[in-house]
Amino acid sequence: MAEFDLIVIGGGPGGYVCAIRAAQLGLKTACVEGRETLGGTCLNVGCIPSKALLNATHLLHETHENFEKMGLMGAKPTVDWERMLRYKDDVIAGNTKGIEFLFKKNKVTWLKGWGSIPEAGKVKVGDEVHSAKAIVIATGSEASVLPGITVDEEAIVTSTGALALREIPKSMVVIGAGVIGLEMGSVYARLGTQVTVVEYLDAITPGMDAEVAKGFQRILSKQGLKFVLGAAVQVVERTKSGAKVAWKLRKNDAAGEIEADVVLVATGRKPYTAGLGLEALGVELLPRGQIKVDGHWQTNVPGVYAIGDAIPGPMLAHKAEDEGMAVAAVIAGRHGHVNYGVIPGVVYTTPEVATVGATEEQLKEAGRAYKVGKFSFMGNGRAKAVFQTEGFVKLLADKETDRILGCHIIGPGAGDLIHEICVAMEFGASAEDIALTCHAHPTFSEAVREAALACGDGAIHA
Ligand code: NAI
Repeated sequence: MAEFDLIVIGGGPGGYVCAIRAAQLGLKTACVEGRETLGGTCLNVGCIPSKALLNATHLLHETHENFEKMGLMGAKPTVDWERMLRYKDDVIAGNTKGIEFLFKKNKVTWLKGWGSIPEAGKVKVGDEVHSAKAIVIATGSEASVLPGITVDEEAIVTSTGALALREIPKSMVVIGAGVIGLEMGSVYARLGTQVTVVEYLDAITPGMDAEVAKGFQRILSKQGLKFVLGAAVQVVERTKSGAKVAWKLRKNDAAGEIEADVVLVATGRKPYTAGLGLEALGVELLPRGQIKVDGHWQTNVPGVYAIGDAIPGPMLAHKAEDEGMAVAAVIAGRHGHVNYGVIPGVVYTTPEVATVGATEEQLKEAGRAYKVGKFSFMGNGRAKAVFQTEGFVKLLADKETDRILGCHIIGPGAGDLIHEICVAMEFGASAEDIALTCHAHPTFSEAVREAALACGDGAIHA
């Protein structure tokens, strides 16, 4: 038994960042993690491995689509799937070991095993009970699978299984046109798999600016993904060669079904809090299973805090990281702050999609007077040079004050470009502030400036 100022339960992006920051602020800190490696879902079976596969398959696609156009002739690469998976695993290992190193460097103790909270101020890991002045629950989330579906991670898979298929499937049905479905669908479509995405709602990526979602769907369709929208999935069952998905269209009850080698269930995630002993501890949960916290991420049990996917808000690694740093500051007696109005969201397809702030639909619904500045990557010289002219930047600003309210980008490097607007929004900047800022030529970021110019006297290259 050891005594700590803080024990963080969960070593994902929320938990490990919280632990490192707490140690930096002088707290004697431990982090409980039961996986073999640190990093949680994100590093082990989520963000990082999917980015490795997206990178490899994007390059494959480039060699087939664009190399000859640039005078790069010769044999087109074929895929050694085992080797590609090894590359992905090496990337995971490099990242998870990096966190282990950071723990050592910052003197964070890794308590290996699964933790529970037998009483406030105590954390049980295996047979040992440790004491802590404060406890942070950062246990993340797990796939939320439709009732009646049995996931075997072979023919019927979640994102975890989709990242480690034994072979490249000839066909795949993705249930859910959210971020996981579209990123993994893109990976396999580029590897030659026939991908059909079945989505309950009438548009892909629910919650995204409708114009952007529509443009995104058009681009993905051109890349070979097929979409069945407005379809309520009824049954998913294994067949001899794979699995079958049956649905009914919501508008007219028309039935449809499709068989594929693999079915990926990507219908969202839910908080993972099983085994923590929250009920006995009396920690209040919300109806959807999230832990209820106050403005300082404290639960109704004093000294027990929660962050990340286990509490309300977007289930994003960077949101969890921000909360991790903020709650560490609070526990160390400082001020902790997260601006929930400026949390970017990125889909790492090609082209990428990135958004921050309000969508046009949200502004309409709020009855807000706004203006739209749009600029297509067709008018961006750099995008032309690298065959990435699909997509646009859409900037939303207050009609009266010109203050930036939101930004939505489909296009090359969108996931990086969005941060210019995040910083601008943090500073309460106007579209004109962006328009008056010199942007290097030729860069993709000029498209952001042009969208800002379009909010004023007009874009130059439109
Ligand atoms: P999601 O919430 O993004 O999308 C789930 C989709 O499934 C929705 O479009 C929903 O309408 C649809 N759906 C739900 N029930 C359905 C049914 N019965 N039949 C057909 N469609 C149905 O969830 P997803 O993609 O599983 O991702 C989980 C979480 O992980 C999300 O919060 C996401 O933000 C996060 N994530 C983030 C990534 C990123 O930031 N790049 C990458 C991957 C995941």
